Amino acid sequence: MHITPLNIVILAAGKGTRMYSSKPKVLHQLAGKPLLQHVIDCAKLLKPEKIIIIYGFGGELVPNSFTHESIQWVPQTEQLGTGHAVQQAVPYLDDKAKVLILLGDVPLVDVASCKKLLNKTGQLGLMTVNKQNPAGYGRIVRDAYNMVTAIVEQKDADDVQLKINEVNSGIIAANATELCMWLQNIKSDNAQKEFYLTDIVSMAVANGFEVATEITDDEAAVAGINSKLDLATLEREFQRRYALKLLQSGVTLYDPLRIDIRGELETGADVEIDVGCIFEGKVSLADGVKIGAYCVIKDSNIGTDTKVAPFTHIDQAIISDSCHIGPYARLRPGTILNKDAHIGNFVELKNSQVDIGSKINHLSYVGDTSVGKNVNIGAGTITCNYDGANKFRTQIGDNVFIGSDTQLIAPVTIGDGATIGAGSTITKDAPPNQLTISRGRQITIDGWKRPQKVKK
Ligand code: UD1
Ligand code: MG
Repeated sequence: MHITPLNIVILAAGKGTRMYSSKPKVLHQLAGKPLLQHVIDCAKLLKPEKIIIIYGFGGELVPNSFTHESIQWVPQTEQLGTGHAVQQAVPYLDDKAKVLILLGDVPLVDVASCKKLLNKTGQLGLMTVNKQNPAGYGRIVRDAYNMVTAIVEQKDADDVQLKINEVNSGIIAANATELCMWLQNIKSDNAQKEFYLTDIVSMAVANGFEVATEITDDEAAVAGINSKLDLATLEREFQRRYALKLLQSGVTLYDPLRIDIRGELETGADVEIDVGCIFEGKVSLADGVKIGAYCVIKDSNIGTDTKVAPFTHIDQAIISDSCHIGPYARLRPGTILNKDAHIGNFVELKNSQVDIGSKINHLSYVGDTSVGKNVNIGAGTITCNYDGANKFRTQIGDNVFIGSDTQLIAPVTIGDGATIGAGSTITKDAPPNQLTISRGRQITIDGWKRPQKVKK
């Protein structure tokens, strides 16, 4: 059996004038990802033979932003219209391929409706949508038998056509053979003096080909971004839908309108999330995790029943079960907390492991450090891990007690069961099970008197 190859062409050469930005439109972010990445992700789910992207404005900045993807990049040096853009892809299309055209500025395009469109019979398929306010979009013109006869752009439409609510999403499927033929004949004799891709519709009809439509009812899935207002509106819609999904899976959101997910959030049972939290990259929250208000959590795993109090930042950390973190804690990359660890306010951890039951509760910096089990690190403790040129590790054994306001000058090892007196500057290894202290002895001066003000 012959299987038709699928080629996907994504149009991404436009400037996006109404974004008022020097950045190409498709690089603006929605939910933490460039618009074009959303479209590429959808394209990949359709398992095409090839993805061809037409780029132009911004030059190599666009391809250079997607070096992790396998894409056939094709430049369109002058943006002469969507038809001209697709013409640039012609030399790269496979013979007898089915071609799906997507737009780089329609980020929430959904796979299911693309599949439906691709499964339609006919040489040309259009994804359309009925819009209350069709302004700006190309109108779908149908005849008395409800067959599509043309797409007319807003600027070329007459008064009757302007009243049509069914519009072109810009997402089009066609056989490569006919598409190439039609593209050769498009002209720019229209209001915008552009080569319109949409002109292939009337050509197909004139040639007696069947034009099919897939009418979607999901406006967001075909919404194009032309301005910062469009971008913000679609961002909120994306977040609203993600929050709804979380609620449906049993997560408690104190306010579903006040959460932002810029990546993927995996959640167990009985997870609670207070307002204003931002999740970035891949985050997983196990059963019973509670996240307080205004936390920012990125690329991290949080274990069962752990509680994160408000205003905490967590980045690339692995946190085990039943930990208490924050408020106002900052866990930087490489932080690994074992069970029952307590990290309190204004504590910063970086590239450090904290074993079972250990506590660092107040105002500390612990970097490049291994902390053993059941350790108590007092307020204001600082690991001096950097000498201005190199970084060194601090090793803290099990059952250690570190008094407040201690500096541990790395590299240094604190033995199991050691106690460090408050206010110490520890420059040498401290032996196990003993008190080590380095500070001036306290004295009281007998008969000392405060100075008196001299009378003039
Ligand atoms: C286009 C459609 C319109 C549809 C609307 C949906 C045409 C003529 N019109 O209009 O029917 O309702 O999309 O959003 O196709 N691009 C290029 N090179 C160019 C011109 C555009 O790559 O020379 C890219 C843009 O970067 C953008 C996409 O094509 O990603 C659409 O272009 P845009 O100018 O936004 O077309 P619309 O006027 O919105
Ligand atoms: Mg547009």
